[in-house]
Amino acid sequence: MASPVEQTHHLNPTAIGVPQITVLDTGGQYTHLIARRVRELGVYADVQPSDTPASMLAERKGIIISGGPGSVLLPGCPDIDPALLEASVPVLGICYGHQLLAQHLGGHVQKGERGEYGIAHLTVTCEDDLWNGLSGSQIWMSHFDTVSALPDGFRVTGSTEVSGIAAMSDPARKLFGIQFHPEVFHTHAGQRILENFVFGICKATSDWDVSRRVPLIEEQIRTTVRERSVFFFVSGGVDSTVAYTLCLRALGPERVFGIYVDTGLMRLSETPFVRSVFEELGAENFIVERAEDEFLAALEGLTEPEAKRRAIGEQFVKVQARILATEHFLDGRWILGQGTIYPDTIESGGTVKSDLIKTHHNRVAGIQALMESGRIIEPLTAFYKDEVREIGREIRVPEKFLARHPFPGPGLAIRCLCADAAADVTHTPDGFLIPIRSVGVQGDARSYRFVMALPHAPTRQDVEQTAPALTNARADINRVVALCGAKGELSRFSVRAATLSKLRLNVLREADAIVRKFCLASGFEEKVWQFPVVLIPVGSGEAQESVVLRPIYSVDGMTADVVLMEPGGLEQLTKQLLALPAVAAVFYDLTNKPPGTIEWE
Ligand code: XMP
Repeated sequence: MASPVEQTHHLNPTAIGVPQITVLDTGGQYTHLIARRVRELGVYADVQPSDTPASMLAERKGIIISGGPGSVLLPGCPDIDPALLEASVPVLGICYGHQLLAQHLGGHVQKGERGEYGIAHLTVTCEDDLWNGLSGSQIWMSHFDTVSALPDGFRVTGSTEVSGIAAMSDPARKLFGIQFHPEVFHTHAGQRILENFVFGICKATSDWDVSRRVPLIEEQIRTTVRERSVFFFVSGGVDSTVAYTLCLRALGPERVFGIYVDTGLMRLSETPFVRSVFEELGAENFIVERAEDEFLAALEGLTEPEAKRRAIGEQFVKVQARILATEHFLDGRWILGQGTIYPDTIESGGTVKSDLIKTHHNRVAGIQALMESGRIIEPLTAFYKDEVREIGREIRVPEKFLARHPFPGPGLAIRCLCADAAADVTHTPDGFLIPIRSVGVQGDARSYRFVMALPHAPTRQDVEQTAPALTNARADINRVVALCGAKGELSRFSVRAATLSKLRLNVLREADAIVRKFCLASGFEEKVWQFPVVLIPVGSGEAQESVVLRPIYSVDGMTADVVLMEPGGLEQLTKQLLALPAVAAVFYDLTNKPPGTIEWE
């Protein structure tokens, strides 16, 4: 797989005894997903580094070697202890693991001619215990190297159009290799294949049920924290709240400290809401650090989006450093808790600002020192977002909290656009060109470009045809919006010079609160994954601002689709927003991601 693991976190198995299956991690993006799939079968599986000595794995009933981004043809690639292959423990190599098996046992691996990426069809060429109940399957491939000659004792058990040896086995030694990924959803028979391996071949027995997950994590927390206490910088997001609550349960409220920094860049009533949730959870040591004035001062006069982000990141660092010093969190009695989840630990495809996302929490010198000396607990690093929500439900984090949409760390600051100079909106044959710069992604690069406004309400055709055609054809824009309603003619509108101010943030907060109230009442909230409401300094006369609605659906934030609102509802909402004196127009973003990012900055 293409994405290397940045940091590998391993679920500590000591709490419930020895895992039956161990997944050896060769750096693949999906390593933890394999372990998760095995646990879903009811068998306890963990993840360990690929070079774990065979002697430490002697009690396992089976070993799975994961896929990884390396090439066995290059020196220094991740490797396994060869003694594993003589230990009579069944081994399943997946993708890179398949190639590693071939290489270790005397087969041959070579650079493929064209690689094989995406969906393929597996033809079963030979009966095999791994195929029990299967005659073939849609599979998912992602490889360039390929096994070109079998090791002694092996036979080909499956092939695809491109890979002659897509699967191989030596049933006598219980060694199996598959070039494809059974753990991903696109491999239709994937779970069946893992089941055949885990139960049929390894003879594992059911020993894991989801209800053991929370006690296991809590035990791990107690083991790591020992006699010390834990402090968290909580964001009000799902991950840090669930991680915090797990610590609260494991250690008791007197040993868990939560700090929430109110940057003044929050949505309306966010701080009281977060405070009430933490009270409901039983937090006794929870402080809100009010830092609105500091953040606004740091942002004063800035218009450039990346400069705004930087200023916020730096301000976070200052506030955190101050809290660390005044509360003495750096003395040996404390360790840092964080809500890092598994996808945060892998490098993301380059478009999401994973570095920036982590900046707020990781860059403070004191925190860096805590991390380097291992004084950190991250109870959720083995889990995906949906599992974190499930865990949250299990430990009774209120549903109103778990169901919340993601909200960016820099808050409303990146939804309140600024401009350094006045400029007119111009009428073009394609629509009205608004000279405000919003961010987009083309390939891996972020670019700031203008916005094209169509002078009518949003339609499906605009989203599917007009917007992509315009963003493809014009190099000066990366977004297209539709006009839902305005006070006056768009041709008379202009952009004015504007920076972040309390006044503008209040207008945005009000508009955002109107939208949220409408979404909750109409049920639209459940149709969208996220719904940024953006303020742009575009208007005329007394009304100097416009509101952009950006409802999208996404699975992981990496790509996003525009979600359209039912016209009657949109009309009502537009009317409510235009009733705000400062608001001149309401627009609807018609741009999928890519080319438009979810946020406007
Ligand atoms: P974009 O705008 O890049 O956003 O399509 C993808 C997802 O990431 C969120 N986002 C952030 N989250 N700190 C965060 O915690 C940030 O700096 C940040 N920037 C974007 C965004 O809300 C969306 O869910």
